[in-house]
Amino acid sequence: MSKVFNWGIIGPGRIAHKFANDLGVLPNAKLHAVASRSLDKALEFANKYSAVHAYGSYREIISCPDLDAIYIATPHPWHCENTLMCLEHNIPVLCEKPMGMNAKEVRQMIGLAKFQNTFLMEALWTRFLPTTKKVLELIAEGAIGEVNTVKADFGFKATFDAKHRLFNQSLGGGSLLDVGIYPVFLACLILGKPNSISAEASIGKSNVDENCGIVLKFDNQKLALLHASIVSNTKCEARIYGDKGVIQINSRWHEPTSITWYPEEGEPQDFFFEFDSFGYKHEIIEVQNCLASNKIESEDLSFDFSIDLAEVMDNIRIQAGIFYPMYDHFTEKEIATKANNFSQN
Ligand SMILES: NC(=O)c1ccc[n+]([C@@H]2O[C@H](COP(=O)([O-])OP(=O)(O)OC[C@H]3O[C@@H](n4cnc5c(N)ncnc54)[C@H](OP(=O)(O)O)[C@@H]3O)[C@@H](O)[C@H]2O)c1
Repeated sequence: MSKVFNWGIIGPGRIAHKFANDLGVLPNAKLHAVASRSLDKALEFANKYSAVHAYGSYREIISCPDLDAIYIATPHPWHCENTLMCLEHNIPVLCEKPMGMNAKEVRQMIGLAKFQNTFLMEALWTRFLPTTKKVLELIAEGAIGEVNTVKADFGFKATFDAKHRLFNQSLGGGSLLDVGIYPVFLACLILGKPNSISAEASIGKSNVDENCGIVLKFDNQKLALLHASIVSNTKCEARIYGDKGVIQINSRWHEPTSITWYPEEGEPQDFFFEFDSFGYKHEIIEVQNCLASNKIESEDLSFDFSIDLAEVMDNIRIQAGIFYPMYDHFTEKEIATKANNFSQN
């Protein structure tokens, strides 16, 4: 019988419920432990998903017996601290996106994973969906010729609440870090690391970006046109344009959906995929496969990719004026240099 992986969760909030559900659809994964700042909440969560251990503080989960991996599901500003705590104790980590508040944190986390020889991966689950894999396959087969442009948006209308994580600056609020990371991820996955960045944001009354528009420019004049919002329901579509056709990842493109291939000649072709979960099971399978092979990083979502992504996000923030004074480390000189010429970095 294949090994069953025992998972722990830190921060049993909204996304942790979906993740715990998806652990339950895999025959070789189960929720083993949960840690909350409230013991009552941990017990309730553990009870709902049949976990054996419940802890009323994050630190206690470190001593949990028989734990194979921990999923960090706290708001972004705690990802770094929670991840470092697990890695220091050699516990493999799957950490929610964005991996850190900035590239400095991401480098620190990955540095410790390497030093401790312990697995770490950013929970950019879209990377592992069958839709994404099919898109990469079609591109590699030349189905749309040479890709020249990626267009993607991710926006939803959230009810304003200055205390909620989405609108609260000290909880890492704003559209770019929460949903904008998905279009940026897709552009970098397909086109690599950009050479230059233009970005603008509308900063709302709670000082976070409510809308963010981004243009990335890559080698060979390739472009990405991206949009994120937490104040409007956008189409949530992604299109990849080539010189011989187009691939559309249908709405909402970042989660389980279908894709349509528009070849230069002939009829469009749809590809549908069956989904028996929220879609998180694919990243869980990737983590488990890596652990079973004693790998400390995923080849499909590597350390370098997460660092590059975080650097691109930092530079979008600098361009668009999205700052978190309590977490940022940018110097005036860095801001001026990067804002003027990202490509020299
Ligand atoms: N992959 C995806 O599809 C997806 C979707 C949504 C969100 N996310 C990511 O997942 C993370 C969590 O998002 P969420 O929507 O699940 O957040 P959430 O429900 O607002 O918070 C998650 C949990 O974090 C803990 N927490 C620790 N410090 C906190 C603080 N100072 N204030 C509030 N909560 C705190 C709380 O658990 P305890 O009080 O029990 O300790 C809370 O229940 C974010 O980084 C987000 O980007 C990913």
